[in-house]
Amino acid sequence: MRVVSGIQPTGNLHLGNYLGAIRNWVAMQDDLGDDGECLYFLADLHAISMPHDPAELRAGTLEMAAALVACGIDPDRSILFNQAQVPQHAELQWLLSGTARMGWLNRMTQWKDKAGKNREGQSVALFSYPVLQAADVLLYQATHVPVGDDQKQHLELARDIAQKFNNDFAPSNEVGDEAPVFTLPDAIVPPEAARIMSLRDGSRKMSKSDDSDMSRINLSDDADTIMKKVKKAKTDPEPLPSETDGLAERPEALNLVTIYAALAQTSAEAVLADFGGEGFGKFKPSLGEMMVETLGPIAARFNELKADTDTLDAILAKGAARARERAVPTLARAYEALGLVRG
Ligand code: TRP
Repeated sequence: MRVVSGIQPTGNLHLGNYLGAIRNWVAMQDDLGDDGECLYFLADLHAISMPHDPAELRAGTLEMAAALVACGIDPDRSILFNQAQVPQHAELQWLLSGTARMGWLNRMTQWKDKAGKNREGQSVALFSYPVLQAADVLLYQATHVPVGDDQKQHLELARDIAQKFNNDFAPSNEVGDEAPVFTLPDAIVPPEAARIMSLRDGSRKMSKSDDSDMSRINLSDDADTIMKKVKKAKTDPEPLPSETDGLAERPEALNLVTIYAALAQTSAEAVLADFGGEGFGKFKPSLGEMMVETLGPIAARFNELKADTDTLDAILAKGAARARERAVPTLARAYEALGLVRG
């Protein structure tokens, strides 16, 4: 098994990021053991497809690396790196651009959403973003790619590109002993990546860009701050119901129960079986303690690592060297299959 996944580097990481992609990556690394390898990277090349600030990109890349390590990605077991240090990603993207079709890219919902009515004004990189994403995984012969629901379509496209490339340039001969250039990867979409909402408004996602810091639990928050934020979280005056149906019209209550369940790795039903009938005066302190227990040690390591750019640079350099080693043979086969002469 070879697991490959990427995440866009952003700053101001919070509980939503942890319970979304990051915790899932750690679980895959831990479950895989010696049965395979995980390559996890920061998609800094993807980040330049939208307007961006260079200093923020650099800081965000290091911050995301610090967060991943603090959350449990072990850079000795997993290969942790950023795309920019592995030029084979950009090289393979170009080679695959000969195979990807305009029509395929035009159908991508992320392109349609991000471009809106102003397609002519978008960068070429935003349009060809999914081709780079295909290169990211095909370069390593990935077998499994953990992604959120919104990235499933991009993974399908990566398979289509791999299939067409294999057909066009490495057709298996009659005895079928010619290996295809690329492995077709399977997407792994976690059953239900918890949707974590703002602590001030249960109808909005928890977000790094919300004006109110009280709306989110940052990965850098200490125990006192976490407790304060949970106690001040918006709620309603009713006690918790004993069934999830009773949360239907209560977005803030639903959010807190969802967070509790996600942290305790249990279901909302199980949380309500314990807390149904209780008021928030009782529930909130338990939720706060649960958060402090999980996030406290993460915050301590995160804050320490974030300030230690030498260590982070060394981790990323080592990961990139290991990634390059694995990328080189596949890239060479792709050049060769296309008839490109490299001396
Ligand atoms: N586009 C993905 C996202 O925004 C990040 C990403 C880039 C990725 N390359 C990838 C995910 C390759 C999986 C595999 O979430």
